[in-house]
Amino acid sequence: MIQSSRVKKILYGGDYNPEQWGEDVWEEDMRLFRLAHVDVVTLNVFSWAALQPDENTYDFARLDRIMEMAAANGLKVCMATSTAVHPAWMARKYPDVLRTEHSGIRRKFGSRHNSCPNSPTYRKYSAALAGKLAERYGKYENIVAWHIANEYGGECYCENCEKAFRKWLERKYGTLEELNRAWDTAFWGHTFYDWEDIVVPNLQSEEFVWGNQIRTNFQGISLDYRRFNSDSILECYCLERDAVKKYTPEIPVTTNLMGFYKPLDYQKWAHCMDFVSWDNYPAYGAAPEQAAMAHDLMRGLKQGMPFALMEQTPSVSNWHTYCSLKRPGVMRLWSYQAVAHGSDTVMFFQMRRSIGACEKYHGALIDHAGHEDTRVFREMAALGEELGKLGGELLGGRTKAKAAIVMDWDNWWAAEYSAGPSELICYMEEMLMYYRAFYRLHIPVDLISVEDELSGYALVAAPMLYMCKDGFDGKLREFTAGGGHFLTGYFSGYVEEHDLVVTGGYPGRLKEILGIWVEESDALPEGNRNHFVYAGREYPAMVMCDLLHPQGAEVLSTYTEDFYAGMPALTVNSYGKGKAYYVATRSDEGFYTDFIGNICRAAGICPVMEAPEQVEVTVRENKNGCFLFLLNHGEGAQEILLPWKGKELLTGKQVESGDCLRLAGNDVAIIKY
Ligand code: GLA
Ligand code: ZN
Repeated sequence: MIQSSRVKKILYGGDYNPEQWGEDVWEEDMRLFRLAHVDVVTLNVFSWAALQPDENTYDFARLDRIMEMAAANGLKVCMATSTAVHPAWMARKYPDVLRTEHSGIRRKFGSRHNSCPNSPTYRKYSAALAGKLAERYGKYENIVAWHIANEYGGECYCENCEKAFRKWLERKYGTLEELNRAWDTAFWGHTFYDWEDIVVPNLQSEEFVWGNQIRTNFQGISLDYRRFNSDSILECYCLERDAVKKYTPEIPVTTNLMGFYKPLDYQKWAHCMDFVSWDNYPAYGAAPEQAAMAHDLMRGLKQGMPFALMEQTPSVSNWHTYCSLKRPGVMRLWSYQAVAHGSDTVMFFQMRRSIGACEKYHGALIDHAGHEDTRVFREMAALGEELGKLGGELLGGRTKAKAAIVMDWDNWWAAEYSAGPSELICYMEEMLMYYRAFYRLHIPVDLISVEDELSGYALVAAPMLYMCKDGFDGKLREFTAGGGHFLTGYFSGYVEEHDLVVTGGYPGRLKEILGIWVEESDALPEGNRNHFVYAGREYPAMVMCDLLHPQGAEVLSTYTEDFYAGMPALTVNSYGKGKAYYVATRSDEGFYTDFIGNICRAAGICPVMEAPEQVEVTVRENKNGCFLFLLNHGEGAQEILLPWKGKELLTGKQVESGDCLRLAGNDVAIIKY
């Protein structure tokens, strides 16, 4: 874990690329780092070309000097393995390292994250480099973590991948007969006679572009390719992880993830990581709960264990549609938001701005001006100082949530590969609707996988559980029968893990627990609405309206319009000691907040405290106590009535229960109680 014996406080720093600069600049960097209270640097992220100028030569001289400098200046090091871009000589000599795109185009050398995950050359040399780095630098006691490659991602459709895919399928299905059954290849006469008949699903075969979406004719093969691609890239990570572990088994290993990143099944990846780290770059105009949800997803990957915020921008990202500046105070606010959700680090990309190529206008601690007299430097130095004072008190703190939202990559892939019922089907959007309700209610929530234990929760929501995998329905039954509250909604329970429909009426395996069956579903074009009334208020019904029949469930509300007016829109079923709720359509924010608020009350789940809407509230707990985070995402000041006495850690002031805390716009308070 990053909070090993080598780490005593919230680490502060980030990606530093001295290899892009002359050594005269390094000394000045060290001075500026001291001024900004930087205590950790991520080194060696993109240096493969320098470290291995040809197949048989390794040159560590410059990295040696960098490491000496970091150690001499008391900097901790997050040590990267440099394998996110293969060197040009490798592409020239071994074209198998080059990826093939979804279109079938074979790439040439260029860009980054550009290696075929099934390339024998890439696998051999990336693991070799990782091993050499560990062998050489493992003795440095200031290394706090191995950072394998960088932001793994993308996909490849080359011949090597095609061959590896066939092997992967053989291991999974055993026989072609079983594969033909699982993919339902009797449809459109797609029966495979030989493993060699199977080709990768891309634009040359099963997939096509529809608007701005990729669609498929055969969900079975496309879904398996997603799984295979994620596994293939994971294997590359594991080869490097094993290579460094051989020399430094005690140094934790991670790779920087990207939050809700669709191509990689991070829940599977997390099993192979010692701790989760991730890069937080909220989209232009994103609401604060979107970052909050991503942090909670990252925390959930290792069952609540603290994670590391590996990157964020100090000020501006160069690659957004509009590269707006983070307003004064926002960098600090978002840094604490990460900590509030379970991060034990505050790290950035980058320490010094490059002068060339595509990231030269990306924010940095040290700007092109080259000195400390900038707004961004001052804000970062102030935060560095503040985190220094905060010390290590809240390291390792956990979030105790009684509510959970189930998130599952197979569901994300399968629901959005589905041909029909609507192009408005959006898994993330559905997650966010549910998440936002908890966020607005100030109720902590975990984002968990279908493999996680449910028994500690009072409420489990599984929005758009389109695919109910073997065994998960059993878990939900046990959870609900034992007194839990289970909540799901439209487009759930349709298929099993191969995307084959479970016959007998939707939602298949969830019918019994929900006490309903869905006969048909009406897709509403964008902008169209039906309505239903719940607890005296009318709410919109959008995207899809299920036409369902209760089979034991109580009807809480019905549609008000169209030929299915009077049919149930909301139901609840008593199941054993618990309850199972069904929302047959997509509604608006107000509805989810009201409905989930009522379910929480029924489940005995309380908000952390009352707080104004723009103030985000979280709690972390460790052996030192409880830490209440209050984050004002609004521009204006907010007054907050404190429920407990304690000590506000950023000002050092004692607070009493009943005190009214005035929090300025974008300001943060952390109260230990
Ligand atoms: C990612 C990468 C970094 C850098 C930043 C820029 O997170 O890991 O190397 O490109 O984006 O935002
Ligand atoms: Zn490939």
